[in-house]
Amino acid sequence: MNRRIFFSLLSAGALGLAGCQKTATDEIPVGEFASLTGKEATFGQSSHEGTVLAVEEINAAGGVLGKKFKLLTEDNGSKPGESANAVNKLIAKDGVVAILGEVASSRSMEAAPICQSNKIPQISPSSTNPKVTETGDYIFRVCFIDPFQGTVMANFARKTLKAQKVAIFTDVKSDYSKGLAKFFKEGFLKAGGQVVSELDYNGGDKDFKGQLTAIKSANPEGVFVPGYYTDAALICIQAKEVGLTVPIFGGDGWESEKLTEIGKESVEGTYFSTHYSPDAGGPKGKAFVEAYKKRYNGKLPDAMAALGYDSAMILADAIKRAGSTDGSKIRDALAATKDFDAVTGKITINAQRDADKAAVILKVKDGKFSYIETIAP
Ligand code: PHE
Repeated sequence: MNRRIFFSLLSAGALGLAGCQKTATDEIPVGEFASLTGKEATFGQSSHEGTVLAVEEINAAGGVLGKKFKLLTEDNGSKPGESANAVNKLIAKDGVVAILGEVASSRSMEAAPICQSNKIPQISPSSTNPKVTETGDYIFRVCFIDPFQGTVMANFARKTLKAQKVAIFTDVKSDYSKGLAKFFKEGFLKAGGQVVSELDYNGGDKDFKGQLTAIKSANPEGVFVPGYYTDAALICIQAKEVGLTVPIFGGDGWESEKLTEIGKESVEGTYFSTHYSPDAGGPKGKAFVEAYKKRYNGKLPDAMAALGYDSAMILADAIKRAGSTDGSKIRDALAATKDFDAVTGKITINAQRDADKAAVILKVKDGKFSYIETIAP
């Protein structure tokens, strides 16, 4: 055995026994917090898989500033309160130089004040509520925001589905859902439509029939459900049961294979907007699809996987340009990101630390998500 390998095995073993995640001096500790289990587990798992693939590629290419990335991942179980714990641990115990996460806006917003006060840059791959990055100048994202996504779906409902009257059914427990409902409504009214019913549910509810019956009696021509996939699938099933047969559509929170697993034929013909489709990328996107399939037994990447990958790549690029792992230098370099060639499209970080990017609309067809169109910002 060559000496270097022997020594690194020895030190890894010793650290493992000590039971703490100390990072070797030739490594850059990068934190990630995600919903790997619990209600939105597929979000965290996809995002994590994309992030891991990026870190492996970064390290295989020699790392950054001559050091390898060491990814330290914490699971928040999709539960409120756990993201704050996770991020506190990553910063205080593990000494991470930056934090990647979360998918869900409410959980990113829970972590953001902690990252901001510790001056540790946070990059959310896919949280779309505007408030996420408003927390402060250390908080970034590599995706579009919901004023855009809401307008995209409002125009789609009004112009493509030709709906004049719609209902909106919102998860009041989710900042994402409340924000997207509001922006959709503004866009739909502006497009000359009318909102005939606005009702609420609590994420995790099992019975939506009371509200769906009330929505049906308002006679909408479409129903916008800006929620997450488990609730959306159950809502589509129960809508059919109460005889509400008009088109139902949502936003990026619908994107999970669980949507069709749970919803089966009840989600056929529904639509949602999201960030990415494996069918619509440029050369960079195609290479990513191939690498991801190879790494994960032929599985196709979804939007969270692609954005998770991009979040790690953007961080690596910023650290390279900063020439340092100092929080404030990484922050400045992230803020200066321009035309970065990412899997989900070119990323320029704007003055609000968000990315102006296109959205795609997908349709559920034969149990799959089929690409309909791309809407530029
Ligand atoms: N945009 C959602 C949120 O902010 C999360 C999400 C992103 C879900 C991408 C699916 C795909 O909460």
